[in-house]
Amino acid sequence: MTVLEATPFSTLIRDASHQQHTEAENSAFMGDLLGGRLGVGAFRSYTEQLWFVYRALEGVADRLADDPVAGPFIRPELFRTTALERDLDHLHDGGDWRAALRPLPATEAYAARVMEVARDWPGGYVAHHYTRYLGDLSGGQIIRSTAERRYGFARKGDGVRFYVFEGIANPAAFKREYRSLLDALPAPEPERLRIVDECKRAFALNTAVFMDLENAAA
Ligand code: HEM
Repeated sequence: MTVLEATPFSTLIRDASHQQHTEAENSAFMGDLLGGRLGVGAFRSYTEQLWFVYRALEGVADRLADDPVAGPFIRPELFRTTALERDLDHLHDGGDWRAALRPLPATEAYAARVMEVARDWPGGYVAHHYTRYLGDLSGGQIIRSTAERRYGFARKGDGVRFYVFEGIANPAAFKREYRSLLDALPAPEPERLRIVDECKRAFALNTAVFMDLENAAA
C-alpha cells in the first residue's frame, strides 16, 4: 500500500487544498468585505455571484442523485438556492433582481466548469461539491457572524440565510459523516488524485471570482 492509499481521502483533499484555502481566506476581497472596508453593496454582489454558482451545483442534482460516485453527496439539506433567493430579495429590498442580474466573467467560467464536470465526470463534481458545501458549513459561519455585525442583518436572518443550514442540526456530526463519504469514495487512486486536482481548480475559480468582485467594487 502506498502512503497515498493509506491516507484517508478526506485528509488528502483537505491537506492538498490547504494552501489555496489560506489564499482564498486572505484574499483582498474577503479581507475588505469582512474588515468593513466595503459596503453592503459588495456583500450583495458576492451573494449574487454565489447564486449563479449554486444554481449550477444544484441544477444538476436530480440528474446525479443516482450516480454511484456523486449520488451519496447530493443531500437536499445542503441546497442553498432558495436561501440565496431569500437573501437576494432582502438585499434588493424586494425588487425584481433576476432580470438584470449577470454573472461576472469569473463566475461564468466557474459555473460553466461545474456544469461541464456534472455532465462528464461525477468525481469532478464531488470536488466542487466538497469545496463549496464543506466550506459553507465551516468558515461560512465566521463569514455569517461578521456580516451580521458589519451590515446589521438579523442573526441568522434575511441577508445571511445562505449561511444557515436549517436542516442540519449538528454541523460537526454532518461534516464527520461527509468525510466518511469522501473516504468511502468508490474511486481508485489515480481518480482520487484527479479529484484533488479538480478541488484545487475549484479553489482557483473561487479566488478568481473574489478578484472580479474586488475589481468591481474598486
Ligand atoms: C474568510 C473566509 C474563510 C474563512 C474564515 C474560512 C475558515 C475556515 C475554517 C476555520 C475551516 C475549518 C473548519 C473545521 O475544521 O471544521 C474551514 C474549512 C473549509 N473551508 Fe474555509 N474559510 C474561508 C473561506 C473559504 C473559501 C472561499 C472556500 C472555498 C470556496 C473555503 C473552503 C473550505 C473547505 C472546503 C473547508 C473544509 C476543509 C476540510 O475540513 O476538509 N473556505 N474554513
